[in-house]
Amino acid sequence: MSNERRIRNLALTGFMGSGKSSVGHAVAKRLGFEFLDTDHLIERRAGLSIPEIFDRPGEAAFRELEREVVEELATRERIVISTGGGVGANPGLLASLKTHALVIWLWASPETIWERVRRQTHRPLLYVGDPESRIRELLAQREPLYRQADVLLNAEVRQTAEVADQVVHQFRLFTQFEADE
Ligand code: S3P
Repeated sequence: MSNERRIRNLALTGFMGSGKSSVGHAVAKRLGFEFLDTDHLIERRAGLSIPEIFDRPGEAAFRELEREVVEELATRERIVISTGGGVGANPGLLASLKTHALVIWLWASPETIWERVRRQTHRPLLYVGDPESRIRELLAQREPLYRQADVLLNAEVRQTAEVADQVVHQFRLFTQFEADE
């Protein structure tokens, strides 16, 4: 992997339920970029849904597919990537994203995340007796890693459109800065 950094894409990281997909769609529309979601790319490649992959062949196979699809994005231009919650907490994948994308961590509190995901059924990591505690544990483990993103945005006090505005603003700042260097 090359260490050279040329920001031409945008990647949104953060925990499940932090708004990466809805914000990502809005940002892609504003920038005129293509929107990609790593979970969708994985599902397409596997021909299985995320819960099916976790069920069999299992989480390790899911993580391997995740690594493949994320690394392949390094050749792309003008894309907005909504990443699965594990990507921004994986140092190797974060480093790969940073070679071509500005990485923005969308933060939300465990309470907000729980409110957003409690009625959804497609997140196998939460198929446990006490999903709320699981969210707190995973978030505590992952926060030091998510923190390595380029930018942190609080995604719970604002509406999607406002978060998207902030993301676009940051992207323009960084790409302008690069162009001036
Ligand atoms: C995961 C998050 C999910 C999906 C998979 C694992 C994680 O994506 O990739 O269920 O490890 O946090 P979302 O963050 O889009 O829900």
